[in-house]
Amino acid sequence: MAGRTTFAMVKPDAFEAGKAGRILAHIEQSGYAILAMRLVRLTRVEAEAFYEVHRGRPFYQELVSFMSSGRAVALVLDKADAVAAWRATIGATDPAEAAEGTIRKLFAESKGRNAVHGSDSDENAVREVAFFFPERELARLGAESPG
Ligand code: CMP
Repeated sequence: MAGRTTFAMVKPDAFEAGKAGRILAHIEQSGYAILAMRLVRLTRVEAEAFYEVHRGRPFYQELVSFMSSGRAVALVLDKADAVAAWRATIGATDPAEAAEGTIRKLFAESKGRNAVHGSDSDENAVREVAFFFPERELARLGAESPG
């Protein structure tokens, strides 16, 4: 059964451009509860580990450089069928292909600098939440461990 939790990020392009506040407002207005949130700055090694599944893809080095280039916001979001719901809310990877009203259509610059991240499965949501948020912090926030 699909879980209620997903992992999201406001990526460095959107944060640096001052779009984080509008993206967070969009998240709240779209019916998500923010269970946990951190301002982060990934090292290159952390970005490599976070995107391990894409290692070897032609865009991997560009992706790692970009994701470690500045501050980002890591989020744990709650909503029914959260992974699929969030992917619909953010739209296609390439903003040129994203539907009207989606976050990437509204705020993304390009396929690489695409404003936000979303987990692509419940399994990856669990892994990605754990990457940024220690169990104790989630418990203190009242955010149940996903999965
Ligand atoms: P994200 O949802 O964070 O997951 C993997 C990321 O790889 C994706 O968003 C894009 O930002 C990036 N990506 C995918 N395809 C390309 C591409 N062709 N060129 C550059 N970046 C890409």
